[in-house]
Amino acid sequence: MPLMEPYRIKVVEPIPILTRAEREAAMARAGYNPFNLRADEITIDLLSDSGTNALSSAQQAAGMVGDETYAGARSFFRFRTVVENLTGYPHIMPVHQGRAAERILFGAVLKPGDLSISNTHFDTTRANVQLSGGTAVDLPCAEAKNLDSRDPFKGNIDLAALEAALAGPDPVGQVIMTVTNNGGGGQPVSMANLAAATELCRAHGVPCFLDAARFAENAWLVIQREEGWADKTPHEVARAAFDLADGAVASLKKDAIAHMGAFLAVRDEALAKQCELVLTATEGFRTYGGLAGRDLEMLATGMEEVVEPDYLRSREDATRYLGELINTVGVSIVEPAGIHALYLNAGRLLSHLPPHRFPGHALATELYLAGGIRCAELGSLYLGEEDAEGNLVKAAPYELVRLAIPRRVYTQSHLEYVAEVLGEIAKDPTAVPGYRVVESPPLLRHFNCRVEPVRD
Ligand code: F0G
Repeated sequence: MPLMEPYRIKVVEPIPILTRAEREAAMARAGYNPFNLRADEITIDLLSDSGTNALSSAQQAAGMVGDETYAGARSFFRFRTVVENLTGYPHIMPVHQGRAAERILFGAVLKPGDLSISNTHFDTTRANVQLSGGTAVDLPCAEAKNLDSRDPFKGNIDLAALEAALAGPDPVGQVIMTVTNNGGGGQPVSMANLAAATELCRAHGVPCFLDAARFAENAWLVIQREEGWADKTPHEVARAAFDLADGAVASLKKDAIAHMGAFLAVRDEALAKQCELVLTATEGFRTYGGLAGRDLEMLATGMEEVVEPDYLRSREDATRYLGELINTVGVSIVEPAGIHALYLNAGRLLSHLPPHRFPGHALATELYLAGGIRCAELGSLYLGEEDAEGNLVKAAPYELVRLAIPRRVYTQSHLEYVAEVLGEIAKDPTAVPGYRVVESPPLLRHFNCRVEPVRD
């Protein structure tokens, strides 16, 4: 079958198309920080694939029968059955979003001074480890360090390093396997790596949890890329991954193709009881956890839809297609293309800009100025370290820009438009200015800072 979306469109929403002058004014007002733009100013929004998805008619219909009973709602039992079938875990708690699941789980599992080890912690995962008194340690596999390598499973954890850490002097409170590895170029984790990692954890008596925000997308890439899995369904592969672990946190704003919601699910009853106390105190009663009955219904239907092979195939094809178009216009991405996002190698394209002029941020800003495309920098503005005077003293390992692709939202022609705009920028990359920080809050700089263009 040629590349084609396996759905047709029944409801549409107009997208704003601004002039260059209007975009320049919007960016200046936003302090050249795409997070400060308003939706009305954005033509194609690739900032996040989280909560930005398009609902199906079946999800909308399910929402209409949502049961809003305070305790024991029908919608909770449907949600629980779907998550039980998917994960096999006996204790399932709905929460309003992934970071709430992280906060509750890590608060129960980690003791002050514990290490949390991961293939790569997502930002909120790392923050919640720190808030629980732990230290987050990322151990991505060696292949991940070569952005151009086409190794199929660059999301894997470094097993030798994991084994050494588990045997080392510092207490390890948990291991978190992020599937797919969002902080690591959106690359998948192989079932072999997951099996080996969970076995090491078991041997050392350390619990291993999945950060399963993109459980279906990881399963799909396993089917495509890993020997021995080609004849399995996405549901079977996802289940096999959950089977290996002791529990999971999953932001359902991604692979339940919905707008809000998450689950926390574990095998251990005592741990579940401990989590449930905090759930009730901070999120909501155990049968709604901060979500409306209609949300639980839409999430349940979304989790069933997301494992459909035609849907996953078209999503992978669309991302790969955009990656190929981007390569054709002379821009490198983190290879190979993943599924929820593409990561542009801005450091290579804008090699005239040193890290303290933030090439990733410069490219993200230029994509907006040139074509109204919003996306996020993953480079030295986000990950770099500064001294007290605000000078960059440690650059990020790579200067990347993430193009995250919302589910079922943009068509092939939207993606072609993105590649065309990027192609215009790539014709004369040295015309893109660098940036300097003019206002920086003490925390989460990339969300809230203001910067300005500089040509030096
Ligand atoms: N884990 C992963 C791997 C994520 O990508 C995210 C969110 C979370 C946990 C937190 O979930 O947002 O529901 O609280 N990622 C979004 C993104 C924000 O744009 O990648 P949440």
